[in-house]
Amino acid sequence: LQHLLSLDGLPREILTAILDTAEPFTEVAEREIKKLPILRGKSIFNLFFENSTRTRTTFEIAAKRLSADVINLNVATSSTNKGETLLDTVDNLCAMQADMFVVRHASSGAPYLIAEHLHNTRRHDIHVINAGDGRHAHPTQGLLDMYTIRHYKQDFTGLVVAIVGDVLHSRVARSQIAALTTLGVPEVRVIGPKTLMPTDLDKLGVRVFHDMREGLRDVDVVMMLRLQNERMSGPLLPSGQEFFKVWGLTPEKLAVARPDAIVMHPGPMNRGVEIDSAVADGTQAVILPQVTFGIAVRMAVMSMLGSN
Ligand code: CP
Repeated sequence: LQHLLSLDGLPREILTAILDTAEPFTEVAEREIKKLPILRGKSIFNLFFENSTRTRTTFEIAAKRLSADVINLNVATSSTNKGETLLDTVDNLCAMQADMFVVRHASSGAPYLIAEHLHNTRRHDIHVINAGDGRHAHPTQGLLDMYTIRHYKQDFTGLVVAIVGDVLHSRVARSQIAALTTLGVPEVRVIGPKTLMPTDLDKLGVRVFHDMREGLRDVDVVMMLRLQNERMSGPLLPSGQEFFKVWGLTPEKLAVARPDAIVMHPGPMNRGVEIDSAVADGTQAVILPQVTFGIAVRMAVMSMLGSN
């Protein structure tokens, strides 16, 4: 694996190898213990052209725990604002001896463009990790979600998993669906309004529900999604209050899921829009452990790419 751009088409063995590699890192992620020397001498550049709290910070923590040098490009004050192209920016950072780029961008495909450019310029030892591109993919989020499910449910076979909300604009949902189906989850459901569902869901092998109580019945895992207002305009944009009435996850709606169902959310959450605080802070929520597991999973991805 030279780059991690998407989970689509990645074989089960690779997904499982990443989750297995993350296991021993969980201890390093959860507690203040000695750094590991795995990426000592490597320079990792965080290029976040879109906002982030969890992904950027946990990549930085993960890289530091692996002893890498981390450089966070401050996009707001960088020369991209003076018209420098993405690829010229990359060339300049390569001239500073970059070993790995972690890229978030509003345009779907931006990390692919960088990976292709590195290939065309014969920089085969530099790696790209997609930290979220447009509405296309967010592979490390998908991986940390799989890690979380395996942690709480042990096994993927026999699970019913529901992804709820604005699937249409969600790069997270696409990566989750790819990983869940590859790892052998027999029933993946998506639940949400017709206006927020992609048209190609039949190709993805999921069951579609337009009713919360029907879709949540007897599920083992509920994965909530935020309304991605930044990717919507005009009539598509529902009001938060209206959305919550129908699609918000409340204790009453969650009660139709299995009693031991876990509730996940990639963050950022919008309380009172897609999720009620009583659920977000309730005993079934594993939303903050997801964040902690994200450090271990990102350590796993970076250490595996860095050793290639
Ligand atoms: N889950 C996620 O990508 O969160 P951030 O946007 O805060 O990185």
